[in-house]
Amino acid sequence: WTAPSSQPLPPLSPKHKVQSNNDWGVTYSPSQGDICAFKGSTVEMKCEYRHPPKSGRTSTNVIETFWITGNYPVSLETQEEYEGRVTNSCDETRGKKSCTLRITDVKESDSAVYKFRFITNLSGGGYTAEPGIRLSVTDPHLTVSVQSRYSSSYKTVKCSSSCLLPSHSTYVWYINSREIDHDKSTYSINSNYLDSVSCAVKGHEDFPAPLIYAPVSPSLSADPSADIFEGSSVTLRCSSKANPPANYTWYKKTKTSILQLHSRVSEFLLNNIQSSASGEYYCVAENQLGKRRSTNLNVDVKYPPRLPSVSVNPPGEIVVEGSVNLTCSSDANPAATYAWYKENTASPAADGPMLTIANIRYEDGGNYYCEARNSRGQHNSTLQLIVVSSKSM
Ligand SMILES: *[C@@H]1O[C@H](CO)[C@@H](O)[C@H](O)[C@H]1NC(C)=O
Ligand SMILES: *[C@@H]1O[C@H](CO)[C@@H](O)[C@H](O)[C@H]1NC(C)=O
Ligand SMILES: *[C@@H]1O[C@H](CO)[C@@H](O)[C@H](O)[C@H]1NC(C)=O
Ligand SMILES: *[C@@H]1O[C@H](CO)[C@@H](O)[C@H](O)[C@H]1NC(C)=O
Repeated sequence: WTAPSSQPLPPLSPKHKVQSNNDWGVTYSPSQGDICAFKGSTVEMKCEYRHPPKSGRTSTNVIETFWITGNYPVSLETQEEYEGRVTNSCDETRGKKSCTLRITDVKESDSAVYKFRFITNLSGGGYTAEPGIRLSVTDPHLTVSVQSRYSSSYKTVKCSSSCLLPSHSTYVWYINSREIDHDKSTYSINSNYLDSVSCAVKGHEDFPAPLIYAPVSPSLSADPSADIFEGSSVTLRCSSKANPPANYTWYKKTKTSILQLHSRVSEFLLNNIQSSASGEYYCVAENQLGKRRSTNLNVDVKYPPRLPSVSVNPPGEIVVEGSVNLTCSSDANPAATYAWYKENTASPAADGPMLTIANIRYEDGGNYYCEARNSRGQHNSTLQLIVVSSKSM
């Protein structure tokens, strides 16, 4: 058989013509045009084809159908390297013509683009269908996927390959670092926690699936990590290695409860921080294999003293020769230090939150300032002290 070489070869891509008159055409399957096969397996490529039924008054006859690689129109069946490994079987059902190429025991050198070619008895009636099917013969690219059913503790893991594996393939499983004697492509396990899972095809243990594993203990950090001031912004960052990548949940512990925060990502932004944001934060990293919690991160928002409140003890009027305690207190972080001043007096009347005036004299009356101070700032409260001669009735 030498027909192709004696036939003039039409342009390799008469596709544009095909689309305009729809007379010539080939549909490949797999239609995505790419197949991947594991060494030693059997692959099948199929195409459906059509051609103009008539040319003028004479009908068209298909003389030859075959498969080629590259641009050289020589049937695989005649090529030495494919000897005994390829068959092309053709079929016509309900007007649909199709051919299937079957290659057994595929080798890496079979990786190529395979195109179907057919020749009709029209003059120049040969047709090579673009774009063909790309076959990649590779090692098994395995992946493990996880399905949880019923409850989170019941998991099924599945070993699959983007390549066509020989149907008789058996598997090896590596669960939590131990090799498991189980030769099916799926494995079910009743456990809350899977540290790690991988699989391989028996005989090809050198090419295991990438390890999937539960999140390793997430680490939680704040950026900036220095003191956090009221009004500033801080990003909390949770990071955990996991495959598949983990999703994150954020929690804040208050004295009485645990609050789940509105973030699903590995970063949590505290914007324009208020003192109410202080507390213990932690994150939980979770993927299909399990979840793990970080340690707590203490967010301690520093802020200047609020307006101090002043209490007078005993309450009521300040009576001459009596005694009084003036106490200043202010919410502040870090805690405030206090001083009392009397108006127009340079030195403090008291260092500390309490000013005691014993044996009160009239001159002790006047304006007092209580000053609360910390590293963030200071705040004064004013108190007017009026000394009376005796308790009014
Ligand atoms: C092609 O073959 C068919 C069937 O044998 C025949 O009827 C037709 O005349 C042929 N056409 C040409 C162009 O030879
Ligand atoms: C986080 O991942 C787990 C495991 O894949 C899943 O069950 C859960 O629904 C995910 N949560 C969110 C909010 O995506
Ligand atoms: C003022 O404070 C001192 C020290 O705490 C206390 O001993 C005293 O009783 C107080 N005086 C009054 C009037 O509350
Ligand atoms: C508070 O009072 C002290 C003493 O009078 C004064 O030196 C200081 O400036 C005042 N601070 C503020 C914030 O008003």
